[in-house]
Amino acid sequence: MRVIHTIAGLKELLQQHRQEGKTIGFVPTMGALHKGHITLVERCVAENDICVVSIFVNPTQFNNQEDLRLYPRTPEEDYELLRSTGADVVFAPSVEEIYPGPDIRIFDFGLLDKVMEGAFRPGHFNGVAQVVSKLFAFVEPHKAYFGEKDFQQLAIVREMVKQQELPVEIVGVPTVREQNGLAMSSRNQRLSVEQREHASEIHRIMRESTLLTEEQSPDQIIHFVTGSINNVPDLRVEYFGIVDGDSLQPVSTWQDSGNIVGAIAVYCGDVRLIDNIRYR
Ligand code: PAJ
Repeated sequence: MRVIHTIAGLKELLQQHRQEGKTIGFVPTMGALHKGHITLVERCVAENDICVVSIFVNPTQFNNQEDLRLYPRTPEEDYELLRSTGADVVFAPSVEEIYPGPDIRIFDFGLLDKVMEGAFRPGHFNGVAQVVSKLFAFVEPHKAYFGEKDFQQLAIVREMVKQQELPVEIVGVPTVREQNGLAMSSRNQRLSVEQREHASEIHRIMRESTLLTEEQSPDQIIHFVTGSINNVPDLRVEYFGIVDGDSLQPVSTWQDSGNIVGAIAVYCGDVRLIDNIRYR
């Protein structure tokens, strides 16, 4: 496994592989890797000749400087995990390498980034699109892997690829969870043992709510889920939306769409967690 820090070094290495006719798979990450990331990497290794993983804590997608500062960084552990998973190339650039000057590009995702994460984290998805478009330009992958845990991010990346007609296949990978149901996240490292138990109620309550759709409307389910989670110590719901899985716009009845997802953001103490669940 090669660890590369420069764009020029990365391009040179991948050019050789491409000339040999090899397919290139890509997993972008911000490091502090856990089993969720590793599941993406395993898929990438299995489905491509060369698996490239990037580790880059992208400053332009953090709308909160404190969150950026506190974001966990564990490069040596990450390299070890990736080596044992069979990744071929790790791209770990500096901020100056990716942003030699300010990135002033503004993307237009229509209504997709006006709701949920987009509404509560202004500029977040523009930053995600900035870095992912740069990384795609450097790696030029055949396939790129994204987790369904970041459900809105996956929709935004698919939209960006469509708008720019990029020759990359976006693969969505189901959410990997702790035994207690908590969606794995680098941010979970900042939770105490007790907070992790409380945070597992998020998935439990959302799953319970999927059994109530016969007798309750989306609005009633929103009320139930929000109220139940807010009753758990340490937890405070920021938003919970029940939306069409493609347009991400709220649905008012279960008949509105065949693809309905509930997406949530919850503060556990001062750690912000997101998750989602399928209703249809
Ligand atoms: P990061 O949070 O490190 O996540 C990297 C990838 O791993 C994302 O596609 C994310 O959805 C996926 N992932 C994280 N936790 C997961 C879980 N429990 N199950 C399945 N997949 C999971 O998302 C980002 O980084 C950044 O926004 C990035 C795309 C790298 C751009 O900076």
